[in-house]
Amino acid sequence: MHRFAIFTAGITLVLIVAGALVTSNDAGLSVPDWPTTFGSFYKMPQMVGGIKYEHGHRMVAEFVGLLTIVLAVWTWRVEKRRWLKLLGLAALGTVITQGILGGLTVLFFLPPAISSAHAAVAQTFFCIAVAIAVFTGRRWVEEQPRVELDVRRPTLFTLTLLSIFVLYVQLILGAMFRHNGLGWWPHVVHAGVVAIVLSWTAIRAISVYPNVEAVKRPAIAMLSLMVAQLCLGFLAFITRVMWGKDAAQPELPMVISTVVHVAVGALLLATTVVLAIQVWRHVPVSFEERVAGREQKAVAV
Ligand code: HEM
Ligand code: HEM
Repeated sequence: MHRFAIFTAGITLVLIVAGALVTSNDAGLSVPDWPTTFGSFYKMPQMVGGIKYEHGHRMVAEFVGLLTIVLAVWTWRVEKRRWLKLLGLAALGTVITQGILGGLTVLFFLPPAISSAHAAVAQTFFCIAVAIAVFTGRRWVEEQPRVELDVRRPTLFTLTLLSIFVLYVQLILGAMFRHNGLGWWPHVVHAGVVAIVLSWTAIRAISVYPNVEAVKRPAIAMLSLMVAQLCLGFLAFITRVMWGKDAAQPELPMVISTVVHVAVGALLLATTVVLAIQVWRHVPVSFEERVAGREQKAVAV
């Protein structure tokens, strides 16, 4: 099941690239109907022009939908942890919502709000698939967590949650710009906030817990991906905003840089979620403090 979950997460990343190709190639309305494609549920259209991106994206999406159904049923039948069964169902609910948003954005001619929601839910689904892969791994199931006490304020766990939050804001600002609902500057300015919060989180994790591999590894990955993402952001900016302003049609450098920027954005968000999960497990301060606090109260009573 772990291998299957990894496979599902991997194909989801491919799907995010396929979706980003639709947007970057301006191919969103090449197939004008939904849930049918040119009036048919099964006939393959001629894969030419924008249709190859739009219909190709739908086919990969259907495959991921199928994988998610299998994963949810499988988890439900063999898994003992109830919360993980529920996470399997949550994945299924998310992929269905995502499919409907994809259809609605076509039916309503790509309104910025729906297209941006479709972009944000895509990455949320990817994070759930990655989390299921982590939770079903042998290491997660068998290892004895190395627990350390976090006495600093804000706690590292709070910092990881803050990182996820600022990344979501960044994702929505980027998507709103990409789908013509907002200017570019809120996204670019907020990139500074993302850089500060993520660096703070990563440096804290790496410097205070250098011996907790499960925390150190995703923290290093998060920092590296963030640096790569900032560089890709500048490339996307140059090709889309500066050079692409008067382009008659999507140019290859713009397509490549924006698609890679979307994909690395998804990887960065998922890595940050993994870091939060590992910090929750290995540095569970707030929980210990809550217990200690409760015990003190009980003694006082
Ligand atoms: C598992 C399901 C799906 C996932 C994970 C997914 C993911 C994505 C992603 C990541 C993008 C790019 C967003 C961006 O670059 O800002 C996208 C675009 C798009 N997707 Fe999907 N998608 C899914 C299902 C569907 C379905 C079923 C349709 C049905 C028509 C669809 C239609 C579209 C369209 C039209 C766009 C382009 C939107 C635009 O240019 O404004 N998607 N998708
Ligand atoms: C770590 C910081 C950053 C993150 C996490 C990030 C993330 C993203 C994401 C996820 C999208 C696409 C949203 C979607 O799926 O529709 C996006 C779009 C974009 N980002 Fe960033 N970004 C970052 C930094 C930057 C920087 C520093 C710049 C420019 C100087 C930049 C320029 C852009 C541009 C121009 C787009 C739209 C591309 C298009 O119109 O096709 N980003 N960003």
